[in-house]
Amino acid sequence: MIFKSKKTTPEEEIDIKELVAASGLSHIAFIMDGNGRWAQKRGLPREAGHGVGVKAFKNTVTLCRDWGIKTVTTYAFSTENWKRPPQEVTEIMRLLDVYIKEAEDDNEKNRIRYIFLGDKERLGDALREKCEYLEDLTKDNTLILNIALNYGGRAEIVNAVNSLIKEGKTEISEEDIQRKLYTAESPDPDLIVRTGGEVRLSNFLMWQSQYSELYFSDCLWPDYGEEELRRAIIEFSKRKRRYGGV
Ligand code: FPP
Repeated sequence: MIFKSKKTTPEEEIDIKELVAASGLSHIAFIMDGNGRWAQKRGLPREAGHGVGVKAFKNTVTLCRDWGIKTVTTYAFSTENWKRPPQEVTEIMRLLDVYIKEAEDDNEKNRIRYIFLGDKERLGDALREKCEYLEDLTKDNTLILNIALNYGGRAEIVNAVNSLIKEGKTEISEEDIQRKLYTAESPDPDLIVRTGGEVRLSNFLMWQSQYSELYFSDCLWPDYGEEELRRAIIEFSKRKRRYGGV
């Protein structure tokens, strides 16, 4: 079922932490769309939207943590995003670099476990090593933050199958694939939120989204905040999840 966001009603003045717990929302994933349009509407270069987008993302992760959501996943850069203008790609990589440094510095305070989903080879040695260092530094923390970076959902499945072939498997099960996905440490997402008005998944979590609830919002990602997140969680809590049953 596809849902378009609407205004909050008084009924929604409820304890959001209780709602998260009662609804079983443990993993939420975000497609942070609309950065470029947000900037262009203000006469700014597209990259400016990504900068404000990082701030919106940090705020969102803090809200998720405070409200009891245990796993957060975000789509920071897809395998297709390399087709963007070079200055935009360079700026996104710079923002990631800064974000990783801050995550290292804030480790004691935030206690977040960072996992990068995707093929790190194309990132270059310097960024790849920083990603791996952060993963190792934070590996004992409990709140998981998956950052999809040079990630594609189909490529992830192909990568998993190739890895199983290398192990000598001639027949594979769903569990085999599951344990080879970049998200092997995480449960499937309960809720996938996409901002920016587009109603599609764009090669994000193709395997894992089998029974995810989908929520689409017209909000441009840099404007994303507490009110929008509350609205998505309240809508999630009203969904009847049947997983193919009755
Ligand atoms: C989609 O908006 C956004 C991206 C492809 C990049 C998102 C990256 C960041 C916010 C920076 C790095 C992330 C982290 C987690 C540190 P768009 O550019 O496609 O927007 P548009 O649809 O309006 O053009």
